Amino acid sequence: MITTDHLAIPYTGGTQDISGVPSEAELTRLANLYLENEFVQVPAQTPSYSPAVLSQTEASQIREINVNTYGPGENVTNSTSAGNAGKAGVGGQKGNDSIVIGSKTLEQIRQDFPILEETVNNHPLIWMDNGATTQRPRAVIDRLTYYYEHENSNVHRGAHTLAARSTDAYEAARQTVADFLGAPSKDDIIFVRGTTEGINLVAQSFVKPRLNPGDEIIVSLLEHHANIVPWQLVAQETGAVIRVIPVDESGQLILPEYAKLFNERTKFVSVTHVSNVLGTITPVAELISIAHAHGIPVLVDGAQSVAHIPVNVSALDADFYVFSGHKIYAPTGIGALYGRKEYLEEAKPYHGGGNMIADVTFERTIYNPAPNKFEAGTGSIGDAVALGAALDYLTGIGMSEISRYEHELVSYGMRELAKIDGLHLIGTATEKSSALSFVLDGHTIDEVGQYLDKWGIAVRTGHHCAQPILRHYGLEGVVRPTLALYNTPEDVDTLVRAVRSIH
Ligand SMILES: Cc1ncc(COP(=O)(O)O)c(C=O)c1O
Repeated sequence: MITTDHLAIPYTGGTQDISGVPSEAELTRLANLYLENEFVQVPAQTPSYSPAVLSQTEASQIREINVNTYGPGENVTNSTSAGNAGKAGVGGQKGNDSIVIGSKTLEQIRQDFPILEETVNNHPLIWMDNGATTQRPRAVIDRLTYYYEHENSNVHRGAHTLAARSTDAYEAARQTVADFLGAPSKDDIIFVRGTTEGINLVAQSFVKPRLNPGDEIIVSLLEHHANIVPWQLVAQETGAVIRVIPVDESGQLILPEYAKLFNERTKFVSVTHVSNVLGTITPVAELISIAHAHGIPVLVDGAQSVAHIPVNVSALDADFYVFSGHKIYAPTGIGALYGRKEYLEEAKPYHGGGNMIADVTFERTIYNPAPNKFEAGTGSIGDAVALGAALDYLTGIGMSEISRYEHELVSYGMRELAKIDGLHLIGTATEKSSALSFVLDGHTIDEVGQYLDKWGIAVRTGHHCAQPILRHYGLEGVVRPTLALYNTPEDVDTLVRAVRSIH
């Protein structure tokens, strides 16, 4: 007898009211149709969070307050000043108010981040630990506060006004993530705790069920431990093997060697878009197209790219793309996973519990389709909403312009640091983002980090959760300044002056 266990049925209604869930006989009929690969649709239900639940006045009040929260001008999506970052001459020649990045000046952007007013050891804070986490703009802080002051409720449950508000805000944030990533639908976006959870989800739910002993998973030498250990776990459980794409001296992946790794046992590729230690921007479009030529799906770890480079998962043809909110000016504990629709349909649930089900009996459970299928339990709702605000903030400035400015700043930093005697830059690929990693003769990395802190400069020292690539360079750690949107040419000059003065 066919059971409906583990069945994900395309489903158009909300998830709270299960009164419209079909009878057992209907479910069995749907299961049979599903197994015959026919399109099945559970009768639509009225979502409990329909905006219709709000009175018109309430809805317009929310809209008005939101507009005020974001402030005028932050919706500007285009600017004639594109490219002015370069023209402003990154290199300390001009003030931050004459450097234009998309719709704002660098000075305006800095004023958006209250924490940049801090002093550390009697110096203005210079935050260059962006690879570990970024700072939050006022728009994100205010959105979070607004959520807790006006909207806080669990989502997808209950028919009261606040449940409607919070669910609307949560689902709007999902749409914002989809738009930001160029995903075909918001249903392809799963909220996760961050990149680590997203990779584990794909490893356990999608890749593991496809693996047999001797099958191969390709990763690169550049990977963060978050894109190594989850694959080791599934490899240990299934007898699969991990293959590694090598890098050249500059820290760039060697494409011809990558192409040679494919064979009939290859089942999956998981690769970073930007190395968190070397800053290398990998040729993800080529990596994906080579994998697809072999029929192999690819996950892109976007933890270090999403805040720095415009990303379009549809143009890249990525099968999965994952990032962490806290590395893109949003709160910790929230991130997003994009997945290709048919792969999300194929994948098993990651966790079991509430929210992800259409119907439960003691004999079987029918799951909701993605994204709910992967979002068991109560998520970090306010943080997801604030993630949407962070993405709106960046879109308002312009991701292409941000990327152009940061590219100039990284090039400037590399040039200036390279002039320091005894300083060795680690990671010199032509295509680089954010990281200016180095070691300094005669000084341990900890000495350098602590010395820079005395200047108010926050950098990270250590292995940065990427031991394989560091050991490839014969190192156990580096000093890693990582730049972001609000860093200035002057910040770079101060860093260089501080490093020089260690001697
Ligand atoms: C490239 C890369 N992948 C994955 C991660 C893990 O991110 P999270 O700790 O936010 O899950 C990081 C964090 O530094 C990273 O740099």
